[in-house]
Amino acid sequence: MTALEKITAPQSRVSGTALYDWDYLVQEDRAHRLIYTDPAIFEAEMTQVFGGTWTYLAHESEIPNENDFITRRLGLRPLIIVRDGEGTIRALYNRCTHRGTTLCRWDKGNTKSFQCPYHGWNFLNTGRLRGVPWPDGYAEDMRDPKYNLAQVPRVESYRGFLFGTLNMDAMPLKEHLGPIAPVIDEWLDRNPGGKVVVCEANRFRYKGNWKLAYDNSCDGYHVAYSHRSLLETENRFAGENAKGMAYYRKSPDTQPMYMRYTGHGNHFKDKRPNLEKRPGGLWALESAHPGMEHYEAAFLRRYGDRAFALLDLAGSEPVNINVFPNFSLLGNHIQVFEPVGVAETNAIWYGTMIVDDGSIPSDAVTDINALRMRTQEGFPNFGEVDDIANFEQIQHGLMAVEDEWVYMNRGFGIPGRVKTNDDGTITAPATDEAFMREHFKEWKRLMKGPQNLAITREP
Ligand code: FES
Ligand SMILES: [Fe+2]
Repeated sequence: MTALEKITAPQSRVSGTALYDWDYLVQEDRAHRLIYTDPAIFEAEMTQVFGGTWTYLAHESEIPNENDFITRRLGLRPLIIVRDGEGTIRALYNRCTHRGTTLCRWDKGNTKSFQCPYHGWNFLNTGRLRGVPWPDGYAEDMRDPKYNLAQVPRVESYRGFLFGTLNMDAMPLKEHLGPIAPVIDEWLDRNPGGKVVVCEANRFRYKGNWKLAYDNSCDGYHVAYSHRSLLETENRFAGENAKGMAYYRKSPDTQPMYMRYTGHGNHFKDKRPNLEKRPGGLWALESAHPGMEHYEAAFLRRYGDRAFALLDLAGSEPVNINVFPNFSLLGNHIQVFEPVGVAETNAIWYGTMIVDDGSIPSDAVTDINALRMRTQEGFPNFGEVDDIANFEQIQHGLMAVEDEWVYMNRGFGIPGRVKTNDDGTITAPATDEAFMREHFKEWKRLMKGPQNLAITREP
């Protein structure tokens, strides 16, 4: 059994935010600029949101073997995500208990213990202090648990996606995901064995608040305008207006796609109804990448009738699945938002590969993964840059202090447009901002607190 330590620092009182009127700052159809610009609100979010709810940490495939580790963050807390010698996945605080320096400065590796670079304290990968140099210099028993590394008390996996929270009252992860779990299942189950393996990432950093990215994650209103050059590039040689996200060019609300809010800040935008339901339907939508024609010809030669179903495994799945506050699945990618400061955020796009489970030919697996890497060079390089430019320009615009509000009222107040379903989920046309109005209700709930937060240490 591990020992729980209740967190005693005041929570929603960080830097005086107890004085903030959250219901004033976020209203049904508009939000105050301060929530994107105020350092005290940002500091409170790093406990109330990144701590108070389930936050994506990493994927299990990044630490497949015993003693594998990667370094990540929960809000601003540096973490070491490790699979210890008994196979238990832990999220250790990457913070030496002696004087507080980060203990591990590598991105990833395999080790049974971590030695602090400062004075050499050595910790097992269970978090327990193993020894200190010249212990006879201490009067105290250094086996006191207070010297063991702090840990995130709750780490749970949903089919390989690892989430953590400090909130002892948070519902189990599966329940928290609720109606978005089957949508994640569909994203996974189209792959052999219902699995993906995470590979390397495209890493972006922008000068803007983290919420600007989450507010955009389900936004179907901006695509035809913000990504115009991408749509034109994708369709320049297409012969017809049929590649990439071209379905956004005509009136998007009359297309069969939609957005759905599933609770707890989570939502998805389903563009799959735009697809032709046939083998190769997804592949046909894929925009031009180097080598595509060569692979297509080789697949037809090698696999005959089966070629297009296999090529679909390389295609970018047209759905955006967003789990509040920092996780998106879109195309073949896992996107993670990492706050750095009130006006600085990392946006990281992890690529995914399919696995060889024997159900499709091994050489097809290799080629499909090569093609998936080409999709990794597509949207992140040609689309994400459009979005990031907007996020940075919003942060500039919000420096106009007297002009206080931003609006999220698209689709609000039009009878019959936004529908609440029997299971409590909410469906609206693809360009509506209903998802944003709803995830801000969750944000407010978390910011108001109080929350039952804790850390743990090995006994
Ligand atoms: S700070 Fe780690 S051993 Fe001193
Ligand atoms: Fe975008």
